[in-house]
Amino acid sequence: MAAFTPWITPLHQTWQEVSLTGWTTLYEGIPAHIDCLGPLLYELFQEHWAEIQVGHVAEGGVLELAFKKPPALCVLYDGYLTVATETWHLHLCLEEHQGGPHRKTPPELRRKRLVSRAALYRRLNPQGQPRMWGIQFWNGAEEPLLQIFLPSPFLGPEEDYLPEGKADYQKLSLYERICAIYVQGKERIPYEDNPLKRPYLAVCRSSRCYPSRNYQPVVEALESALREANLDVQVITSGCLEVCQQGPVVFYSGDCTWYKRVTPQVARQIVFEHLLNGCPLKDHLFPGD
Ligand code: FES
Repeated sequence: MAAFTPWITPLHQTWQEVSLTGWTTLYEGIPAHIDCLGPLLYELFQEHWAEIQVGHVAEGGVLELAFKKPPALCVLYDGYLTVATETWHLHLCLEEHQGGPHRKTPPELRRKRLVSRAALYRRLNPQGQPRMWGIQFWNGAEEPLLQIFLPSPFLGPEEDYLPEGKADYQKLSLYERICAIYVQGKERIPYEDNPLKRPYLAVCRSSRCYPSRNYQPVVEALESALREANLDVQVITSGCLEVCQQGPVVFYSGDCTWYKRVTPQVARQIVFEHLLNGCPLKDHLFPGD
Protein backbone atom coordinates (compact mmCIF):
# COMPACT_ATOMS: atom_id res chain seq x y z
CA MET A 1 0.00 0.00 0.00
CA ALA A 2 1.38 3.43 -0.97
CA ALA A 3 2.27 5.76 1.92
CA PHE A 4 -0.18 8.55 2.63
CA THR A 5 0.81 11.93 1.22
CA PRO A 6 -0.91 15.07 2.50
CA TRP A 7 -0.96 16.71 -0.95
CA ILE A 8 -3.27 15.87 -3.83
CA THR A 9 -2.20 15.89 -7.46
CA PRO A 10 -4.71 18.17 -9.24
CA LEU A 11 -6.78 16.63 -12.04
CA HIS A 12 -7.19 19.95 -13.94
CA GLN A 13 -10.61 18.73 -15.10
CA THR A 14 -13.48 21.16 -15.55
CA TRP A 15 -16.80 20.75 -17.30
CA GLN A 16 -20.26 22.27 -17.25
CA GLU A 17 -23.93 21.40 -17.61
CA VAL A 18 -26.68 23.80 -18.67
CA SER A 19 -30.22 23.06 -17.50
CA LEU A 20 -33.42 23.75 -19.45
CA THR A 21 -34.11 26.67 -17.11
CA GLY A 22 -30.83 28.36 -18.03
CA TRP A 23 -28.88 27.52 -14.86
CA THR A 24 -25.25 26.44 -15.44
CA THR A 25 -23.34 24.07 -13.17
CA LEU A 26 -19.55 24.42 -13.33
CA TYR A 27 -17.65 21.34 -12.11
CA GLU A 28 -14.01 20.97 -11.03
CA GLY A 29 -12.74 17.40 -10.62
CA ILE A 30 -11.60 16.03 -7.26
CA PRO A 31 -9.38 12.91 -7.30
CA ALA A 32 -11.72 10.04 -6.45
CA HIS A 33 -9.25 7.87 -4.55
CA ILE A 34 -9.44 7.00 -0.88
CA ASP A 35 -6.45 9.15 0.18
CA CYS A 36 -8.22 12.24 -1.14
CA LEU A 37 -11.89 11.45 -0.47
CA GLY A 38 -11.12 9.95 2.97
CA PRO A 39 -9.62 13.14 4.47
CA LEU A 40 -12.11 15.36 2.60
CA LEU A 41 -15.18 13.53 3.89
CA TYR A 42 -13.78 13.03 7.37
CA GLU A 43 -13.02 16.75 7.63
CA LEU A 44 -16.48 17.71 6.39
CA PHE A 45 -18.39 15.29 8.65
CA GLN A 46 -16.22 15.73 11.76
CA GLU A 47 -15.26 19.43 11.63
CA HIS A 48 -17.93 21.09 9.48
CA TRP A 49 -21.04 18.98 10.16
CA ALA A 50 -22.99 22.06 11.32
CA GLU A 51 -22.34 23.95 8.06
CA ILE A 52 -23.14 21.25 5.50
CA GLN A 53 -26.11 19.21 4.38
CA VAL A 54 -26.22 15.98 2.42
CA GLY A 55 -28.80 14.82 -0.07
CA HIS A 56 -29.70 13.81 -3.57
CA VAL A 57 -31.05 15.92 -6.41
CA ALA A 58 -32.83 14.62 -9.50
CA GLU A 59 -35.43 16.16 -11.79
CA GLY A 60 -38.66 15.74 -9.81
CA GLY A 61 -37.22 15.01 -6.38
CA VAL A 62 -34.82 16.53 -3.84
CA LEU A 63 -33.60 15.19 -0.50
CA GLU A 64 -31.72 17.43 1.95
CA LEU A 65 -30.58 16.31 5.41
CA ALA A 66 -28.93 18.46 8.08
CA PHE A 67 -26.95 17.56 11.19
CA LYS A 68 -28.23 18.71 14.59
CA LYS A 69 -25.22 17.20 16.41
CA PRO A 70 -21.84 15.77 15.40
CA PRO A 71 -22.28 12.38 13.70
CA ALA A 72 -22.26 9.50 16.19
CA LEU A 73 -20.25 7.41 13.71
CA CYS A 74 -17.93 8.17 10.78
CA VAL A 75 -16.20 4.95 9.82
CA LEU A 76 -15.10 2.94 6.78
CA TYR A 77 -16.21 -0.72 6.83
CA ASP A 78 -15.77 -3.07 3.89
CA GLY A 79 -15.32 -0.18 1.48
CA TYR A 80 -18.35 1.80 2.62
CA LEU A 81 -18.14 5.03 4.56
CA THR A 82 -20.93 5.07 7.13
CA VAL A 83 -21.95 8.35 8.71
CA ALA A 84 -24.67 7.99 11.34
CA THR A 85 -26.75 10.46 13.32
CA GLU A 86 -29.39 9.56 15.90
CA THR A 87 -32.11 9.59 13.26
CA TRP A 88 -30.55 8.87 9.86
CA HIS A 89 -27.41 7.50 8.31
CA LEU A 90 -25.69 7.36 4.93
CA HIS A 91 -23.35 4.97 3.13
CA LEU A 92 -20.94 5.88 0.35
CA CYS A 93 -18.70 3.34 -1.37
CA LEU A 94 -15.10 4.66 -1.31
CA GLU A 95 -13.25 1.37 -1.78
CA GLU A 96 -14.30 -1.85 -3.47
CA HIS A 97 -16.99 -3.56 -1.41
CA GLN A 98 -15.94 -7.18 -0.89
CA GLY A 99 -19.21 -8.39 0.63
CA GLY A 100 -18.17 -8.96 4.24
CA PRO A 101 -16.10 -11.97 5.33
CA HIS A 102 -17.67 -14.13 2.59
CA ARG A 103 -16.40 -11.77 -0.18
CA LYS A 104 -19.55 -12.37 -2.19
CA THR A 105 -19.78 -9.15 -4.18
CA PRO A 106 -19.05 -9.89 -7.87
CA PRO A 107 -16.11 -7.86 -9.28
CA GLU A 108 -18.37 -6.05 -11.77
CA LEU A 109 -20.68 -4.92 -8.98
CA ARG A 110 -17.71 -3.81 -6.86
CA ARG A 111 -16.62 -1.51 -9.67
CA LYS A 112 -20.16 -0.22 -10.23
CA ARG A 113 -20.69 0.69 -6.56
CA LEU A 114 -17.39 2.48 -6.15
CA VAL A 115 -17.26 6.29 -6.29
CA SER A 116 -15.44 6.81 -9.58
CA ARG A 117 -15.86 10.56 -10.01
CA ALA A 118 -16.20 13.49 -7.63
CA ALA A 119 -16.41 17.21 -8.31
CA LEU A 120 -16.70 20.52 -6.54
CA TYR A 121 -19.40 22.60 -8.19
CA ARG A 122 -20.88 26.08 -8.42
CA ARG A 123 -24.37 26.59 -9.83
CA LEU A 124 -24.95 29.87 -11.67
CA ASN A 125 -28.35 31.43 -12.31
CA PRO A 126 -29.30 32.52 -15.87
CA GLN A 127 -27.69 35.91 -15.15
CA GLY A 128 -24.35 34.13 -14.54
CA GLN A 129 -24.33 34.74 -10.77
CA PRO A 130 -23.18 31.83 -8.54
CA ARG A 131 -25.98 30.82 -6.17
CA MET A 132 -25.24 27.25 -4.98
CA TRP A 133 -22.04 25.43 -3.98
CA GLY A 134 -21.45 21.76 -3.30
CA ILE A 135 -19.78 18.43 -4.05
CA GLN A 136 -21.25 15.73 -6.30
CA PHE A 137 -20.25 12.04 -6.39
CA TRP A 138 -20.83 9.48 -9.19
CA ASN A 139 -20.49 5.71 -9.09
CA GLY A 140 -18.71 3.43 -11.56
CA ALA A 141 -21.76 3.40 -13.83
CA GLU A 142 -21.66 7.23 -13.96
CA GLU A 143 -24.89 7.43 -11.93
CA PRO A 144 -25.12 10.47 -9.63
CA LEU A 145 -24.80 9.46 -5.97
CA LEU A 146 -25.24 11.79 -3.06
CA GLN A 147 -24.30 15.46 -2.92
CA ILE A 148 -22.88 17.55 -0.12
CA PHE A 149 -24.40 21.03 -0.02
CA LEU A 150 -21.87 23.65 1.08
CA PRO A 151 -22.79 26.93 2.81
CA SER A 152 -24.37 29.55 0.57
CA PRO A 153 -23.86 33.25 1.37
CA PHE A 154 -27.36 33.92 0.09
CA LEU A 155 -29.22 31.63 2.50
CA GLY A 156 -30.20 32.45 6.09
CA PRO A 157 -30.47 30.02 9.02
CA GLU A 158 -33.92 28.84 7.90
CA GLU A 159 -32.67 28.14 4.38
CA ASP A 160 -34.61 31.17 3.14
CA TYR A 161 -33.04 33.62 0.67
CA LEU A 162 -31.61 36.69 2.39
CA PRO A 163 -32.74 40.15 1.20
CA GLU A 164 -30.78 41.54 -1.76
CA GLY A 165 -27.49 43.05 -0.61
CA LYS A 166 -27.40 41.07 2.66
CA ALA A 167 -25.26 38.18 1.46
CA ASP A 168 -22.68 36.83 3.92
CA TYR A 169 -19.66 36.05 1.71
CA GLN A 170 -17.70 34.67 4.71
CA LYS A 171 -19.73 31.52 4.18
CA LEU A 172 -17.77 30.80 1.00
CA SER A 173 -14.63 30.11 3.02
CA LEU A 174 -15.40 26.37 3.28
CA TYR A 175 -15.83 26.10 -0.52
CA GLU A 176 -12.57 28.01 -1.04
CA ARG A 177 -10.71 25.82 1.45
CA ILE A 178 -11.89 22.60 -0.25
CA CYS A 179 -10.97 24.02 -3.64
CA ALA A 180 -7.43 24.94 -2.48
CA ILE A 181 -6.74 21.56 -0.80
CA TYR A 182 -8.72 18.96 -2.73
CA VAL A 183 -9.05 20.46 -6.24
CA GLN A 184 -5.99 22.64 -6.80
CA GLY A 185 -3.53 20.97 -4.40
CA LYS A 186 -2.28 24.42 -3.31
CA GLU A 187 -2.77 23.70 0.38
CA ARG A 188 -1.91 20.66 2.45
CA ILE A 189 -4.43 18.06 3.62
CA PRO A 190 -4.74 18.80 7.36
CA TYR A 191 -3.90 15.24 8.53
CA GLU A 192 -0.72 13.18 8.85
CA ASP A 193 -2.55 10.01 7.86
CA ASN A 194 -5.83 9.07 6.21
CA PRO A 195 -8.33 9.43 9.07
CA LEU A 196 -10.70 6.89 7.52
CA LYS A 197 -7.94 4.26 7.46
CA ARG A 198 -7.09 4.50 11.15
CA PRO A 199 -7.49 1.04 12.71
CA TYR A 200 -10.49 0.21 14.87
CA LEU A 201 -12.10 -2.80 16.49
CA ALA A 202 -15.83 -3.26 15.91
CA VAL A 203 -17.97 -5.43 18.16
CA CYS A 204 -21.26 -6.71 16.79
CA ARG A 205 -24.19 -5.78 19.05
CA SER A 206 -26.95 -7.17 16.87
CA SER A 207 -29.41 -9.63 18.40
CA ARG A 208 -29.10 -11.80 15.29
CA CYS A 209 -25.96 -13.18 16.96
CA TYR A 210 -27.73 -14.59 20.02
CA PRO A 211 -24.73 -14.47 22.39
CA SER A 212 -23.92 -10.95 21.18
CA ARG A 213 -26.73 -9.64 23.32
CA ASN A 214 -24.01 -9.67 25.94
CA TYR A 215 -21.42 -7.84 23.86
CA GLN A 216 -20.66 -5.18 26.50
CA PRO A 217 -18.07 -7.24 28.51
CA VAL A 218 -16.17 -7.80 25.24
CA VAL A 219 -16.12 -4.05 24.54
CA GLU A 220 -14.87 -3.35 28.06
CA ALA A 221 -12.17 -6.05 27.83
CA LEU A 222 -10.93 -4.65 24.49
CA GLU A 223 -10.84 -1.09 25.84
CA SER A 224 -8.94 -1.99 28.99
CA ALA A 225 -6.45 -4.23 27.10
CA LEU A 226 -5.80 -1.43 24.57
CA ARG A 227 -5.11 0.97 27.43
CA GLU A 228 -2.69 -1.51 29.02
CA ALA A 229 -0.97 -2.13 25.67
CA ASN A 230 -0.88 1.62 24.99
CA LEU A 231 -2.34 1.13 21.51
CA ASP A 232 -4.21 3.93 19.76
CA VAL A 233 -7.06 1.81 18.34
CA GLN A 234 -10.69 2.87 18.61
CA VAL A 235 -13.37 0.43 19.80
CA ILE A 236 -16.81 0.83 18.28
CA THR A 237 -19.98 -1.21 18.36
CA SER A 238 -21.68 -2.06 15.11
CA GLY A 239 -24.66 -3.73 13.52
CA CYS A 240 -24.40 -7.11 11.85
CA LEU A 241 -20.89 -8.08 10.71
CA GLU A 242 -22.25 -10.98 8.64
CA VAL A 243 -20.99 -13.79 10.86
CA CYS A 244 -24.40 -14.33 12.44
CA GLN A 245 -25.02 -16.94 15.15
CA GLN A 246 -21.31 -17.04 15.99
CA GLY A 247 -21.07 -13.94 18.12
CA PRO A 248 -19.91 -12.00 19.85
CA VAL A 249 -18.12 -11.06 16.64
CA VAL A 250 -15.14 -8.70 16.53
CA PHE A 251 -13.75 -7.11 13.34
CA TYR A 252 -10.25 -5.61 13.24
CA SER A 253 -10.02 -3.04 10.44
CA GLY A 254 -6.19 -2.93 10.43
CA ASP A 255 -5.96 -6.13 8.37
CA CYS A 256 -9.68 -6.97 7.90
CA THR A 257 -9.83 -9.88 10.34
CA TRP A 258 -13.12 -11.26 11.66
CA TYR A 259 -13.20 -13.10 15.01
CA LYS A 260 -16.09 -15.27 16.18
CA ARG A 261 -17.19 -16.39 19.66
CA VAL A 262 -15.16 -13.72 21.40
CA THR A 263 -15.17 -13.80 25.20
CA PRO A 264 -13.54 -11.11 27.34
CA GLN A 265 -10.51 -13.42 27.70
CA VAL A 266 -10.28 -13.84 23.91
CA ALA A 267 -10.68 -10.07 23.52
CA ARG A 268 -7.53 -9.53 25.60
CA GLN A 269 -5.67 -12.11 23.50
CA ILE A 270 -6.74 -10.29 20.31
CA VAL A 271 -5.11 -7.13 21.62
CA PHE A 272 -1.92 -8.64 23.02
CA GLU A 273 -1.29 -11.48 20.57
CA HIS A 274 -2.67 -10.08 17.31
CA LEU A 275 -2.50 -6.29 17.50
CA LEU A 276 0.66 -6.07 19.59
CA ASN A 277 2.61 -9.14 18.38
CA GLY A 278 1.12 -9.73 14.93
CA CYS A 279 -0.10 -13.30 15.63
CA PRO A 280 -3.83 -13.77 14.88
CA LEU A 281 -5.73 -16.21 17.11
CA LYS A 282 -6.33 -19.19 14.83
CA ASP A 283 -9.07 -20.81 16.97
CA HIS A 284 -11.38 -17.83 16.69
CA LEU A 285 -10.82 -16.63 13.11
CA PHE A 286 -13.78 -16.42 10.76
CA PRO A 287 -13.89 -18.13 8.36
CA GLY A 288 -11.69 -20.70 10.12
CA ASP A 289 -9.72 -23.56 8.58
S1 FES B 1 -25.66 -10.28 14.12
FE1 FES B 1 -23.61 -10.58 14.82
S2 FES B 1 -22.53 -10.83 12.97
FE2 FES B 1 -24.59 -10.77 12.33
